[in-house]
Order: sequence, then structure tokens, then C-alpha cells
Amino acid sequence: MAQEAPGEDQRAAGFQALVDADHRLEPRDWLPDRYRSMVLRQIAQHAHSEVIGMQPEGNWITRAPSLRRKAILLAKVQDEAGHGLYLYAAAETLGVAREELVARLHDGRQKYSSIFNYPTRTWADVGAIGWLVDGAAITNQLALTRTSYGPYARAMVRICREESFHQRQGFELLWALARGTEAQRRMAQDAVDRWWWPTLMMFGPPDARSPHTAQSMAWRIKRVSNDELRQRFVDMAVPQAAALGLTLPDPELRWNADRGHHDFGPIDWEEFQRVVGGDGPCNAERLRVHRAAHDDGAWVRAAAAAFAAKHRDPVAVPA
Ligand code: 3HC
Repeated sequence: MAQEAPGEDQRAAGFQALVDADHRLEPRDWLPDRYRSMVLRQIAQHAHSEVIGMQPEGNWITRAPSLRRKAILLAKVQDEAGHGLYLYAAAETLGVAREELVARLHDGRQKYSSIFNYPTRTWADVGAIGWLVDGAAITNQLALTRTSYGPYARAMVRICREESFHQRQGFELLWALARGTEAQRRMAQDAVDRWWWPTLMMFGPPDARSPHTAQSMAWRIKRVSNDELRQRFVDMAVPQAAALGLTLPDPELRWNADRGHHDFGPIDWEEFQRVVGGDGPCNAERLRVHRAAHDDGAWVRAAAAAFAAKHRDPVAVPA
């Protein structure tokens, strides 16, 4: 008698056994719908963040103070585009096309990181983004190199290598300004003051108010919680700020020997919700620019698809 196909319960038990054994899950594996949608949501929003994240720094490419700084910034922004492509490719292994993911971004069904809704007012912001925002991204992404979904974990390994260059170039930019003229030092301090708290918000709401963290950790999508990643980042950033000779805008920031970590002040979660809800300084601009670039690039996508179809099936596209 033909062996019956395993029922839903058996497949779910098999899935959980793979997760519990810390196995990588691959596109060919059976995945519960909720796991699939949770991973897709996170990878897609990560990809959207990488691409939208090109805008704040991209605005400074034509205004970089030297050819060296322009070349570094060009390389970084180009890397972010590549990170977005790796991540869209990882998301597509879950069965949703890139065009659909971009449509979900444009109609608000999917998000991108709140941090990119803040303006880059001076050249020092490029340094603060590199040092703080990419530093936070590395803290988060290093943990994600062990996420349970294979294509996502592998994308993270590649991305983390490039992020370390991003953080170092930002740190070095601020190092130069902090040792420059008094006006340059003030510019660097002003940028750090403006980017510090929004960077802490990047790690998401407190664990106690996170609707996804418990299940995400149970399925090893997330390997470290929002609060723990935030704490790791603060503990890393404090000595770096001291080395830069810049201060962090938190009067409650201090070493707590009992905890073995730095205590820090309260985060303005109302500001976080406002920005995530679309009412940040640059939300409308970021989506307007993204929509315009997507529309302007439609002909390139059509040409690439026609070329691929012609060379895949010469008869399919009329000469
Ligand atoms: N910005 C916007 N939305 C956020 C957010 C943020 N900083 N933090 C949380 N949210 C959203 C979540 O997406 C979720 O909304 P949803 O259900 O509509 O998706 C809601 O707030 C609840 O948050 P949770 O913490 O419960 O959600 P997650 O479990 O998904 O955790 C996360 C949030 C920690 C951001 C997680 O999704 C994650 O680790 N994502 C991958 C890393 C990432 O996306 N980083 C973004 C920056 S990319 C970057 O920095 C590029 C670098 O090169 C500069």
C-alpha cells in the first residue's frame, strides 16, 4: 500500500524538530504558513530599508568635501543597493516576486526602518550614520547570520562583511571632524546628538511590547531580542564615543557594575510610533523618491526581461 503523505501535524512536528536542532531551513523544506509570512515580512522590510537607506547619504555624494570622501561614500551607497538586492533575492525564495514586495512598500503594507526618515542636515550626518546606524545594523545583523532561514542567514554573512567598512568610514569621518576646527567639532557633536536616540529605536520596541519577538525567537528567526541587541549596541558605542572625543546625548548614561552594562535613559516611544506611522520628518519624501526612481527604471526592467526572454526562448520575443 502506498505510504500516506505525512499529515499537517507530522510536517509541523518535523519542522519544529529541525528548528530545535538548529538546522537551517531551506526553500525546499516544508514551512508553516506563519513562519513563511513572518520571515518574508522581516526580510522584505530589511530589503526595503537597505534601498530607502541609500537616500539620506546619497544626498551628500555631490557635496562630499573631497574626492576621497566622495569615492568612499559612492562605494557605501552602492553597497546598500547590493544589500537590498541580496535580500530581495532571499525574499523571493519564499515565493513572492520583487515587484509585489515593492508594491507592498508603496502601498504601506510593508515598512522600512524608521531611522531613514530623519534628514541629513550636514556632512557630519554621513559620519554619524556610518558610525551609529551602520554600527547598529551590524549589531543586529551579526545575530541574524544565525537566523533559521538559510537564504537570509547567508545574505547576512555577505552583508556584515561590507557593513564593517561602512561603520569604520563613518567613525573615521567623525574622528577627522572632531579633531578639526571648532566649527567642525561642533558639527560632529550636533550630528551625534540628532542620530543617537533614533538609532536606539532601530532595534524595535521594548521586548515587552513587541508582538513578534516571542514567536520569532521560538522559531530562531530572531536569535537575540530587541532589548538585548540595543544594550549590546549601547555598550559598544560608549567607549567609541569617548575615543572620538564626542559626548552622547543622554544624562542618564552610566556604567552599572552590578549589571555589567551601561544604564541609559528612557527612549521616546511616542516619537518612534509617530515616525513608524508615517509622521516622521522625511517619510513622504523617502517614498516619493522611491516611487519616482521605480517608475523611471521601469524601462530598464522591461528591457532586461525582454533580453532574458529572447535569449531563453528566441521565438518568444519578436525581433
Ligand atoms: N522601523 C520601522 N518599523 C519597525 C522598527 C523600526 N526601527 N522596529 C520595529 N518595527 C515594526 C516591525 O516591523 C513590526 O511591524 P510589522 O508587524 O508591521 O512588521 C512592529 O514594529 C513590531 O516590532 P517587532 O519588534 O515586534 O518586530 P520584529 O520582530 O520584526 O523586530 C526588527 C523588528 C528588530 C527591526 C526586526 O524586524 C529585524 O531585525 N529586522 C532585520 C534588520 C533590519 O531590518 N534592519 C533595518 C535597518 S537596515 C540598515 O540599517 C541598513 C544599513 O546598511 C544602514
